[in-house]
Amino acid sequence: GPKRPQVVVLFGATGDLSRRKLLPGLFHITGVGFIPGCRIIGVSLDELDTAGFRQFAREAVDQFSTRKIDEADWAAFAETLDYVPLAQGAGALRAAVERAEQALGEGCRRLHYLSVPPAAALSAVRMLAEAGLVEGSQIIMEKPFGTDLESAVALNTKLHEVFSERQIFRIDHFLGKEPAQNILAFRFGNGLFEPIWNRNFIDHVQIDVPETLGLGKRSAFYEATGAYRDMVVTHLFQILGFMAMEPPTALAPAPISEEKNKVFRSMVPLDPKDVVRGQYVGYRSEEGVEPESDTETFIALKCFIDNWRWAGVPFFLRTGKRLAEGQRIISIAFREPPKSMFPQGSGVGAQGPDHLTFDLADASKMSLSFYGKRPGPGMRLDKLSMQFAMHDTGMIGDVLEAYERLILDAMRGDHTLFTTAEGIERLWEVSTPVLQAPPPVRLYPTGSWGPKSIHQLIAPHAWRLPF
Ligand code: BG6
Repeated sequence: GPKRPQVVVLFGATGDLSRRKLLPGLFHITGVGFIPGCRIIGVSLDELDTAGFRQFAREAVDQFSTRKIDEADWAAFAETLDYVPLAQGAGALRAAVERAEQALGEGCRRLHYLSVPPAAALSAVRMLAEAGLVEGSQIIMEKPFGTDLESAVALNTKLHEVFSERQIFRIDHFLGKEPAQNILAFRFGNGLFEPIWNRNFIDHVQIDVPETLGLGKRSAFYEATGAYRDMVVTHLFQILGFMAMEPPTALAPAPISEEKNKVFRSMVPLDPKDVVRGQYVGYRSEEGVEPESDTETFIALKCFIDNWRWAGVPFFLRTGKRLAEGQRIISIAFREPPKSMFPQGSGVGAQGPDHLTFDLADASKMSLSFYGKRPGPGMRLDKLSMQFAMHDTGMIGDVLEAYERLILDAMRGDHTLFTTAEGIERLWEVSTPVLQAPPPVRLYPTGSWGPKSIHQLIAPHAWRLPF
């Protein structure tokens, strides 16, 4: 839609996400003129005044802005920040929003960002209803969108009593990453790849997101969440949706959600036998962690999409904390040639199948590995590769961080990169067997690639990482 000024009500304004991503992100997108005007009202449990909130925001921007801070830009931004302690209630919030709307003038939009845990999100929703700030508003929700099917349905039901699905933007920041969107461009902007994007040519797919990070200060959140709920049911399955979906009828929100949801509907409910849960050695002695905690800090699994395109093609997913490397890759392994004409010992096949690999680093990278002839007499084959890195193109000037892109989309009312209630609920349904009968956690040393059983899980194939 047309560019309109925005009032942003930011619940959880002094929280970790707000500090690391949202305030620095808002500073950037308002500063470079993506929106014609903006006022931000911070809300949280902290008893701050506006000056205190501006100070908090300044520290957040200093520490986490990825760009140089221009003092004039900062002064203009600080001016737009207001703060309402939660304890002051709906009336004070309403008054602050009215002040902001008056300052911005006619035709502004309203966006409520609920950067708080689910229980707090529901009370924020009730507060917004009480303040009369529902109609004409959009609302951004943060994960977790429930902890299982039942709680997800309950959460959505409660939400829908106040906001319609059209008003709700459920954020999954992996979909805001440039390289994730590039999957769509790559698949549907070219005639070359889509014909081989199916079970006739693809042997298996890996979505592998190891992290070196530990818990930081998030042990309370993490203990109750674990790697599966934190990463798989949200980010990794959403990426799988982009990889596996049919071409949508148009590059628009409804057709894209429809195709992604069809993938989720075709997913076979997970078999606990195909899941490896891990916990790093030492997790149980971290501050805030139960001494006998059963929370997984690692998960690897095999899943299937039972439709014409993907029947029989395993998708292997892996992610975890305190692993050997931080990577985010999607790797497609192609089937071997039907017959080898190369002599025994030529090297063909010795280094695994041909791969197409997407790297979801900050700027897209891709590589295609294949066999080719090693120079010299005779016929010896070696694994060669073609590489693409967006960095080398010089086209990275306008890069938006994932959160910036998604906030901007929500401001414009564009649902393309957001998830739906239906999709989320189906993913919980697919997860039910594992949530109900989780396999035991296996310990793994920090700095490793996870418990040993990950190799059995993927055999006779092998994990693509480490390169
Ligand atoms: C978050 C998870 O959603 O994503 C974190 O809660 C995880 O545990 C993070 O570390 C990874 O995001 P990114 O963008 O750093 O890969």
